[in-house]
Amino acid sequence: MKNLKIEKEYLKKIKLFQEYNKYYYDKSDPKVSDSKFDQLKKEIIDLENKYKYLNSKNSPSKTVGFTPSKNFKKVKHKTQMLSLSNAFGEEDLKNFEKKIRNFLSLSKDFELEYSAEPKIDGISASLTYKNGKFIMGLSRGDGKEGEDITENLKTIKDIPKIITAKNFPVEIDIRGEVFIQNSDFSKIKTKFANPRNAASGSLRQKDPKATSKIPLKFIAYTYGFAKNLSIKTQSSFLKNLKNWGFKTNEYNKTICGINNLIVNHNHLEKKRYEIDFDIDGIVYKINDIELQKRLGYVTNAPRWAIAHKFSANSSISEILNIEIQVGRTGALTPVAKIKPVKIGGVTVSNATLHNEDEITRKDIRVGDTATIERAGDVIPHVISVDLNKRKKNSQKFIFPKKCPSCGSSTVKEFNESTKRNDAVRRCSSEGFECDQISIEKIKHFVSKEALNIEGFGKKIVENFWELNLIKFPHDIFKLNYEKIKKLEGWGNLSVFNLKYAIDNKKKISLDKFIYSLGIRHIGQENAKLLARHLKSASNFFKLSLSKDIDELKNIDGIGSTQIKSILNFFSNQTNQKFLIELKNHLEITDTIQINQSGLLKNKNFMFTGKLEGISRAEAKSIIEQNSGKIISNVTKKLDYLIIGEKPTTKKINLAKELNIKILSQKEWLKMLD
Ligand code: IVH
Repeated sequence: MKNLKIEKEYLKKIKLFQEYNKYYYDKSDPKVSDSKFDQLKKEIIDLENKYKYLNSKNSPSKTVGFTPSKNFKKVKHKTQMLSLSNAFGEEDLKNFEKKIRNFLSLSKDFELEYSAEPKIDGISASLTYKNGKFIMGLSRGDGKEGEDITENLKTIKDIPKIITAKNFPVEIDIRGEVFIQNSDFSKIKTKFANPRNAASGSLRQKDPKATSKIPLKFIAYTYGFAKNLSIKTQSSFLKNLKNWGFKTNEYNKTICGINNLIVNHNHLEKKRYEIDFDIDGIVYKINDIELQKRLGYVTNAPRWAIAHKFSANSSISEILNIEIQVGRTGALTPVAKIKPVKIGGVTVSNATLHNEDEITRKDIRVGDTATIERAGDVIPHVISVDLNKRKKNSQKFIFPKKCPSCGSSTVKEFNESTKRNDAVRRCSSEGFECDQISIEKIKHFVSKEALNIEGFGKKIVENFWELNLIKFPHDIFKLNYEKIKKLEGWGNLSVFNLKYAIDNKKKISLDKFIYSLGIRHIGQENAKLLARHLKSASNFFKLSLSKDIDELKNIDGIGSTQIKSILNFFSNQTNQKFLIELKNHLEITDTIQINQSGLLKNKNFMFTGKLEGISRAEAKSIIEQNSGKIISNVTKKLDYLIIGEKPTTKKINLAKELNIKILSQKEWLKMLD
């Protein structure tokens, strides 16, 4: 319920704040001390946090603390200040380069060189120098006409006022970014929404003295109008800038090839938080000035440059509920249902909380305000919760001690290798006795890496389960298609396609068959090792009955955990029935003896990122057919790291450190001729 007294008090504070604000920004004559100003702002925000109905549009939580002044003289730029088009990923970059190649009719092997410059998130300015003297500085304005902010710019130490270098043009507009460093921003944080606003606000102070109090910086990166400037490349221009006394970005680089642009992008995207100013992407410019000239412009952006943006990868949201999901191996995973929020262009409404220990450690509760991170294609996760925003009535989250699906007790297993209890709590029931585990086992069975049944997605598994059409993985071979045809969203054609997809996958290799069983600790690699050792399905089935698993001890890579797990699996009666069913429905092919003298002999490979037009599984099998080996960690043993779309930066960086060759998918395929 609204409390009128509180609302009145709140609005009074806002009115006072507006008054202070006017004096502070417009008149550059603060009425109160900075700390009093900040205190008032804090009081308003505290009230809003406490009483959610307080929501004035004039609140300092919504307005940026500065009003653009109408008092600056407008001046035309001699050369227009352009903007840049944006690229958000590899595809956009490829298109950008393709257009350039077409435009310039370049041959395929012509290597385009780029100047890659971190894009500082500040305010651009154009500085006019005549005969080596800084005579005028303009803001960007609308690109055609800017505000004359010369006096304010003069207060910035990084801007040289006189340049005596011999090769400095008689007249030139030097362009770059005015910004504030994060460490300086933290000292004046309460007055501005972010560093960019701080830079913008202080640049437009009516009184240059007010500007001089704020530690603004300037980094130069391009030029507008120029008389007597003779340069061949953007990178050499950047060098000149440095010699003339300007600051340039220490992370500027010259790079060839889209893949290398991406490697650099990934590297900087990680590093951006260590840099003392905000960067929101990387600007790529064709390095050759002649080519730049030939390429020219489209409307208000050059054809020869593009901004490769970083993805915003964290956001704040509210935890609406904490649900427990039961996985294929019985692991209980807590998942936060959050108020939907956009992170890096994707709407996120679920975020993993990993396990029970994680919740306890971070004391995560329903109703908390949380920071959610989404990095690449990894499942979004909760980083932290804001204890200041915690509701008074919030209660500690109690992790269920019974499986939410089947009610069995849950256990934390003792881990032999770490000599500790697992962080993960598991349902203690054996496989198919728990509904949720069964559903997950079916999903695994039809998944890409196992039987790879096209169109049999997770939603369909859940739907068919609900309708009692499937209870075990082998039920997919006995589907009642007549019944499915009548279901909503299904018709003759889709049923035909489903049946075709299933029939088509009845022939399966031994390793994929073993993997598809979903035995705990038997992933794709271990399944391959077992298949290589056992050679045929009949040997596998014999072993499942005899349970004489001693022979598995000789397999390099199979340890006691795996052996115990296999024995467990074979000892379960339901699993035995499951195996018999599969024996009847599938045609399991013997393990192919690998060609030991192929092109990739003695070479170890690893993939990161999504490959184009080929599944990981197929790519692995190509490598193995050519006598190469796939390994799962970046170590000295690795010979080649093959990168696809959205690769893992960590892997690339580690590979670079270890001097491991990094190949694009194309380069790798070239190796195979
Ligand atoms: S070049 C024609 N280089 O990005 C080239 N711009 O959206 C235009 N920016 O207004 C500018 N760092 O404020 C260039 N190294 C850099 C840059 C950069 C930041 C900003 C600049 C510009 C905006 C383009």
